[in-house]
Amino acid sequence: MESGKSQLWFLIIVCLVSTAVSQLRNCEKGWFPFGNHCYKFSSSTATFKHAMIFCNNHGAELLELHTKAEEDWIDLQCRVRGYSYGVWLGLSDIQTEGKFVSLSDARKPRGNFRNWMKGEPNNSGHNEHCAMYWITRRGWNDDQCTNKLNIVYKK
Ligand code: BGC
Ligand code: CA
Repeated sequence: MESGKSQLWFLIIVCLVSTAVSQLRNCEKGWFPFGNHCYKFSSSTATFKHAMIFCNNHGAELLELHTKAEEDWIDLQCRVRGYSYGVWLGLSDIQTEGKFVSLSDARKPRGNFRNWMKGEPNNSGHNEHCAMYWITRRGWNDDQCTNKLNIVYKK
């Protein structure tokens, strides 16, 4: 390839890569970046069902935690916002008791990171099918889907 043409190709590739990288890092107004994702934090609480619907309205998914670093960052964000109890996680065992799957694909959560608190998930009262991150206890718990928790939208 003649040098003018290859320089042009090089420029085009640099432009494409830098646009892609900046899109990965930038989040819309009201969304906060961590890693390659953007997060939005609710100012009110809702049932699991409504949390799911609100997520869909935002073109986002309910929070899933894939690393300890992500969990630590979410924990900090929740504390500074004064969340008192917990936030929903996008995991449910409503299909098969004890088998928590991701809402996005009905498959077991991606990766190996899990942080169920000791003795959880325990399906207390035989009525706990929605997962939450319990802020004060810094761990995961299965809870009643009709409880009202804060929501973290992730995309
Ligand atoms: C239990 C949890 C349960 C929660 C329900 C706690 O005392 O340890 O397993 O999900 O109560 O509110
Ligand atoms: Ca429980």
